[in-house]
Amino acid sequence: MKLLSKALCLCMALMLTNAAPIDPEETGTAAEEHAQYDRCSGLEFDAITPDEKGKTFFFKDGRLWSGFDGPSQPVGDVFKELDKFDHVDAAFRMHKPDNLQDHDHIYFFLGDKVFSFYDHTLEEGYPKEIQEDFPGVPSNLDAAVECPKGECASNSVLFFKGNDVYVYDIETNVMKTKMWPNLPVCTSVLRWLEHHFCFHGHNFTKFSPVTGEVTGAYPKDARHYFMKCPNFGHGGNYTVPKCSEVTLDAVTSDDAGKTYAFRGPIYIRLDTHRDGIHAFPISRSWSEVAHGVDAVFSYNDKMYFIKGDQVYIYKSVAHYTLIEGYPKTLKEELGIEGPVNAAFACANENTAHIIQGNEMFDVDLSATPRVVTSKTPLPISDIEAGLCGPDGINVFKGSHYYHYNSPMELAMSKIMPRPLPIMSAMIGCQD
Ligand SMILES: *[C@@H]1O[C@H](CO)[C@@H](O)[C@H](O)[C@H]1NC(C)=O
Ligand SMILES: *[C@@H]1O[C@H](CO)[C@@H](O)[C@H](O)[C@H]1NC(C)=O
Repeated sequence: MKLLSKALCLCMALMLTNAAPIDPEETGTAAEEHAQYDRCSGLEFDAITPDEKGKTFFFKDGRLWSGFDGPSQPVGDVFKELDKFDHVDAAFRMHKPDNLQDHDHIYFFLGDKVFSFYDHTLEEGYPKEIQEDFPGVPSNLDAAVECPKGECASNSVLFFKGNDVYVYDIETNVMKTKMWPNLPVCTSVLRWLEHHFCFHGHNFTKFSPVTGEVTGAYPKDARHYFMKCPNFGHGGNYTVPKCSEVTLDAVTSDDAGKTYAFRGPIYIRLDTHRDGIHAFPISRSWSEVAHGVDAVFSYNDKMYFIKGDQVYIYKSVAHYTLIEGYPKTLKEELGIEGPVNAAFACANENTAHIIQGNEMFDVDLSATPRVVTSKTPLPISDIEAGLCGPDGINVFKGSHYYHYNSPMELAMSKIMPRPLPIMSAMIGCQD
């Protein structure tokens, strides 16, 4: 889905930590290093890669930045064995889900050597000659990036040197050489949230990892998108809340497994752990409901947003588009009076379960016109959001959620299950 390519307003203000301010007392070399390695002044990076936890690292000379925010530190602080080198040529995170020996390892390239790290620890037997691990791949690379099956024909790594691109199939060890002269010479390449970005100077260009094609207005200045810099960025003062204080307005998961939580004017993609969890303004994908929603559910490639007594239905094709004729009233579309608190639909059913106060209305989505087929009292009142997934139903209330195995169990149960705290791993809130 081209959701992210649409308007890559990443609003990095959302990142989990705030920039550590430079200590004004700090003097001498440390302060000079800070000044020299200020990525907001417009640096060209040597390498960029996420780690196994989804944190993105940026490298320049012997320094690295951890995440999209904050100052640099020596590379050796995080990757100890690299501390004697003055730069890295390239780095990528391996995507090889059926070989856990290699999966999610970070590979660094220096001259003709390759280093493999997992959990920031050098693997035994490394460094090696690049030829040992990746026969045919040249020394002194410019950049490298993972390309999982689905985005490339098979699980692959793309290596860059000048205008040459080496597409290395990591299942078969077969390598193909391509020339993408239309792409700038990349000094680092990052795959982030299903897209590939070539970094050159302080700019970046999004490209197709299959054809090298560039579509859209590129290059763009990386400082607007991939780092939090004063006077850059696309506005938005969104901070990821504390888990103990979080409340959700709505949660939904579409047919492709893309999962979103909504809270005020922001949404958070919940299924992107490999690249970290990030928040974006709702306006970026669903401008008509930018100020917030009461309930959202997904059904048949469509997302239903409920706000007040209105329903907005979006079709998810390349990106989300509001279907002509919408919004309509809740009464007209689903046969109930708004406002509502929460809604969910399960993948294998034609039913929308809509929660209002302490009642759940089931609406038959296959009927025309749609009608309420049942109405049941619930053991919990004031549920704020609900999600049906393969493991059952989670209903959210304040900073807690309740788990049920099925809509039926939710409707029939007389006693409340134990409330469970919303965890950082679920929505990227701060513990
Ligand atoms: C960055 O991109 C802008 C266009 O967006 C261009 O004008 C500028 O020359 C580029 N700068 C570098 C250093 O590539
Ligand atoms: C962000 O917050 C600052 C200060 O709190 C305010 O001046 C600025 O207008 C806000 N920006 C946006 C886009 O809301």
